[in-house]
Amino acid sequence: MDAEIRKQVLRKLTYGLYVLTAVHQGELAAGTVNWLSQASFSPPLVMVGLKVDSRLHALVERSRAFAVGILGADQKEVAQAFFRPTEVSGGRLNGYPFRPGPATGSPILTELPAWLEARVTDAVKRGDHTVFVAEVVEAGLADPAARPLEMWDTGWFYGG
Ligand SMILES: Cc1cc2nc3c(=O)[nH]c(=O)nc-3n(C[C@H](O)[C@H](O)[C@H](O)COP(=O)(O)O)c2cc1C
Repeated sequence: MDAEIRKQVLRKLTYGLYVLTAVHQGELAAGTVNWLSQASFSPPLVMVGLKVDSRLHALVERSRAFAVGILGADQKEVAQAFFRPTEVSGGRLNGYPFRPGPATGSPILTELPAWLEARVTDAVKRGDHTVFVAEVVEAGLADPAARPLEMWDTGWFYGG
């Protein structure tokens, strides 16, 4: 296999951009991710690939739950804020307001147009990311008309 062609082909997979959050015993973690997809209608499952050496991975592994905030097309700067290490100050997460999710307590970023909470059912540990499969247990929609932020439009890549 040609490694450069493989990289270019993998970079043509299409993604959204999301802020994934988790809490365990009062400790919060948040990060922007793109390796996320729905995985089953019934039960409603999602799957996400999380970097094994990240705080996000450590907290999801311990709490067995997370929240996903769906970024709007005009929220590229919010995505950027969550590439940085998690910082809680003045009741804000990396500068953005949040509240605890009703089902899992995972932080819900209140300025994002849509969110869901999920409880982990399975973890596939292989390579440098773990694929967590999780059942959607709660969801909220602040702006039904919002267009989601898409990876291709940002010029960013993660993978390949
Ligand atoms: C464009 C882009 C996409 C990313 N997608 C993912 C992803 O799908 N999964 C992941 O674990 N990290 C992803 N990251 C890295 C996380 O944003 C970063 O590791 C996160 O802020 C968590 O770091 P920490 O928990 O170690 O502080 C991505 C980074 C960039 C720049």
